[in-house]
Amino acid sequence: MSRIISAVAGAMLVISLGSVDAKAAYNAAAGKTVYDASCVACHASGIMGAPKVGLKTAWTSRIPQGLETMVQKSIKGYQGTKGMMPAKGGNAKLTNAEVGNAVAYMVEQSK
Ligand code: HEC
Repeated sequence: MSRIISAVAGAMLVISLGSVDAKAAYNAAAGKTVYDASCVACHASGIMGAPKVGLKTAWTSRIPQGLETMVQKSIKGYQGTKGMMPAKGGNAKLTNAEVGNAVAYMVEQSK
């Protein structure tokens, strides 16, 4: 009986850890297409102060704020200390979910 309880508790721990960074809400694989079309211009090379995708040190101070915060900032756009991130990367046609997928992809490639 206690083995069953600890197995269930273990599974619940895995589920709750997984949801901490809201990974399940976004599809990083689908985000690659969005990234390649709308984000790559700045984020592949890191021009204008954009954190370069794949360069871990560009993301270490950003990732701790959480995926959802980064997604919201990417949807709305913001002026940071390094440069200006345009709302939805300048592509207003993107849905919020598409932007979220792209952020998930970028973060996954950069940690
Ligand atoms: C015109 C250039 C440009 C494009 C296109 C662009 N970005 Fe950015 N992005 C920036 C810059 C510059 C920053 C850094 C701003 C700062 O922190 O000073 C940034 C920062 C970010 C961050 C980090 C946010 C944070 O909280 O630290 C994310 C995530 C991001 N962009 C996602 C995206 C996504 C997703 C797209 C495509 C839909 C995109 N960007 C397209 C310029 C761009």
